[in-house]
Amino acid sequence: MRAMSWSEQDSRGFLDLGDYYVPQRERQMAIIGDLVASAPSPRNLVELCCGGGLLTRTLLARFPQARMHAFDGSSTMLAAARKQAGQHADRLTTRPFDLAAEDWRSLPFRADAVVSSLAVHHLDGPGKRALFRDVAAMLAPGGIFVLADLIEPTTAAGKAVAGQMWDDAVREAALARDGNLAAYDHFRDDEWNLYNQPQPPDSIDQPSSLIDQLDWLREAGLETVDVHWMYAGHAIMSGRKLG
Ligand SMILES: C[S@@+](CC[C@H](N)C(=O)[O-])C[C@H]1O[C@@H](n2cnc3c(N)ncnc32)[C@H](O)[C@@H]1O
Repeated sequence: MRAMSWSEQDSRGFLDLGDYYVPQRERQMAIIGDLVASAPSPRNLVELCCGGGLLTRTLLARFPQARMHAFDGSSTMLAAARKQAGQHADRLTTRPFDLAAEDWRSLPFRADAVVSSLAVHHLDGPGKRALFRDVAAMLAPGGIFVLADLIEPTTAAGKAVAGQMWDDAVREAALARDGNLAAYDHFRDDEWNLYNQPQPPDSIDQPSSLIDQLDWLREAGLETVDVHWMYAGHAIMSGRKLG
């Protein structure tokens, strides 16, 4: 069973094994980049819960005029993100924050894109709904919010399908990378696949359904809300602020 809040130990584990645990990770990064590229002028980019900085680095490399503002609650992750930025580090600002808090939500600039991967599911439904509203207010006209995250299937059958697909994806990734199942064994022993076991009400993981999240993005005033990719319970959505 996962702990009730994200720990520095979780950060170290995810830095070691995230490339196995996240299905089609490189493809996800490319899709998010393609969506950010559709903003009129991607200069000020914000990443919520940047983790070890894979997406931050991807966007810095793709948008040489952009500054990344990367936020995370873990000092281990922020240090890893700074290191990962490498030659682009002069265009990176990192900041500790609590995703659930409100003190960081009035930014001193308008964001051309706000992105987040695999973190917003740590908020409950009302928390996500409020976050989407506040992110919409942060965006410049034409700016885009791209959210990659776990979703909650609406039926037991849907949950079983997502759980099986995620298990298969991690097993295949372990075999393809290492020729053995050691990484998959960690994934199973850590009970990372939340679709395969009942979650307690106070779990750190509180994914919401795809439909609810699309509704909340629209309710926040975002337009052209859509789903661009979905696999093994993971989805990439976006919404745009009208220019
Ligand atoms: C599963 S990792 C994903 C990291 C990265 N976005 C990625 O896709 O590789 C979750 C991240 O969310 C951060 N996080 C979790 N809860 C948080 C909170 N309440 N406030 C700030 N950061 C949080 C963790 O420190 C961690 O970096």
